[in-house]
Formats: sequence, structure tokens, C-alpha cells
Amino acid sequence: MPELAYVNGVITPLEEARVSVEDRGFQFADGIYEVAKIFDGKLIDLDRHLARLENSARMLELPLPMPLPELGRTCRDLHARSGIEDGVFYLQVTRGACPRVHAAPPGLEPTLVMTTRRLSRPLPEKITAITVPNNRWKMCACKAIALLPTVLAKHAAVKAGVNEAIFVGDDGLVLEGASDNVFCVKDGVLHTPPADGRILEGITRGRVLELAEERGIEVRVAPLPLDEFRAADEVFLTSSVLTVVPVVALDGRPVGDGRPGPVSTVLREAYWDFMRRFRDVTDSPNPSGSSSPA
Ligand SMILES: Cc1ncc(COP(=O)(O)O)c(C=O)c1O
Repeated sequence: MPELAYVNGVITPLEEARVSVEDRGFQFADGIYEVAKIFDGKLIDLDRHLARLENSARMLELPLPMPLPELGRTCRDLHARSGIEDGVFYLQVTRGACPRVHAAPPGLEPTLVMTTRRLSRPLPEKITAITVPNNRWKMCACKAIALLPTVLAKHAAVKAGVNEAIFVGDDGLVLEGASDNVFCVKDGVLHTPPADGRILEGITRGRVLELAEERGIEVRVAPLPLDEFRAADEVFLTSSVLTVVPVVALDGRPVGDGRPGPVSTVLREAYWDFMRRFRDVTDSPNPSGSSSPA
């Protein structure tokens, strides 16, 4: 089960992979990425990740290195070669390598990098968080590799002795975690901020909204003021890597009774069940063109 890297068609052990120092990803963070979970030997929701990648590329007028179906096959091939059962699949596309100049010259070949890694440590079953001011740009719907505000937010979380930082806008609205989407529960109603361009529209967020609806949980997708968020009975975060994880303390105070609440627990179990049932369309004899749970 080797951890592998793919760089523009060349597959190597992860630690041997190299890109040019003139790559625009390195020079300008001029690129986009996706992170998908590898669970039980399956690439969870790869098709949705690739659709979001295409959207990010469109937002930055960044050409993809190959058509989406071919990109999907290339991802699945790398994953199959690595044979990793539980881990993380990373994909990055940059505008390519060229002498350093801000406006990219025409005709650059995009750089495609993919890696497969094993899960390095067990996933947390609950976490703690702080809120931080949102100092990011206005295109948060684009999964761009320019992540300095996220890095600083994560550093603030580490300094505060907690696991995650949650961005709050100047208008007092809760947006999202540094690398996850936020949900809260009040009186049995599930709340989450809208995907209105101020957050990344998480693939896991979408699945959790579908699972909540299937279970008859009332859902309110609407702007979420910080005071309401702080007064919630439950808070949880979602991401491909973390799945669904309850937040038991926020800004040094317990959330609810300080333990994972019932709605968070139901949705966490529902999401894990979804992953267990998930079948990639390429595994099925009769591909229908979209991934769906079996
Ligand atoms: C800012 C941000 N929001 C939300 C998410 C969750 O997205 P997904 O569920 O697609 O992993 C991520 C994941 O990296 C993220 O970086």
C-alpha cells in the first residue's frame, strides 16, 4: 500500500515527487485543489469533487489539464495503484510553470498533481473551537490553494489550545470552519449558513443536508448570527476528512451540556453509513453517470 504521487503523468513514491520552482502554484498560489476521502478502499464522492473542481477552474479561468471523465479515470487509476484502504486523496491543478510574471502568458500547460496518503492518525470524535475574524477574499466558493488566512486561523486555534477556528464575518455572521462547514442545532432544528459565495460549498455539507432531510430533520439554511450560534444546543463541523464531528466547546464555553448531542450523533452515524454503502459508478457494471449510494 504505497503512498503515491502523480505529477503530469509521472507516478512516483510520494516523497520523490517534484515540481518546478517556477510553478505558478509555488510562486503565486495560482491554482485550485480538492481533497477526497478514501474509505474502505473507495474514493468517496469523487464525481462531486471533480464537478466542484471544474467550477473552481471556471471561476479562475484556469484550464484543466484534461477533460473531466479522463481526470476521473486518472484519479481512480492512481488510487487503485496505491491500494490504500483508508486515507486522503489530494488533487491540485495550477496554471503551470513559467518565468515569474504576474499575468500568465498564453499557452501554459497546467500542472496536475495528485497524491494518495494513508490516514496518519485516528479521526477525533469531538473537537473544540474558537471563532476568528474572517479576513479572507471574496471568492470562498472557489477551492483555491491560496490558504494563508486559513493557515493563520489554524495557528490561532493551536495557540488557543483548541482544534479548529471558525470564521465570523464583520457583520457578525458565522461562515465556516477554517477547513470545514458549520452546522448548529437549536430546539431540534438544524441550521447552517447558505452557500452564497462566502463559504466553500462542502461536498460533505451537501450530503449531510440530504441525510437530514431523509430523516425528517427540519433544516434552515440561512444567515447564522454569532449570538444564535453560541446559544445553540449542538454544534458540529463537516468535511471530507473529518466527516461529521461535534464541537463540544466554543470560545472556552461548553456547547449545550458539553457532550456530543443527539442530532449530531444521528447525522454522524448516517454519514458513516452512507460511506459504507457508497459505490463508485465505475465499480458498477452499468454506469449511470453519477455517484450515488447503493
Ligand atoms: C474552507 C472550507 N470549508 C469547507 C470545507 C469542507 O468541504 P468538503 O466537505 O468538500 O471536504 C473545506 C474542506 O477543505 C474547506 O477548506
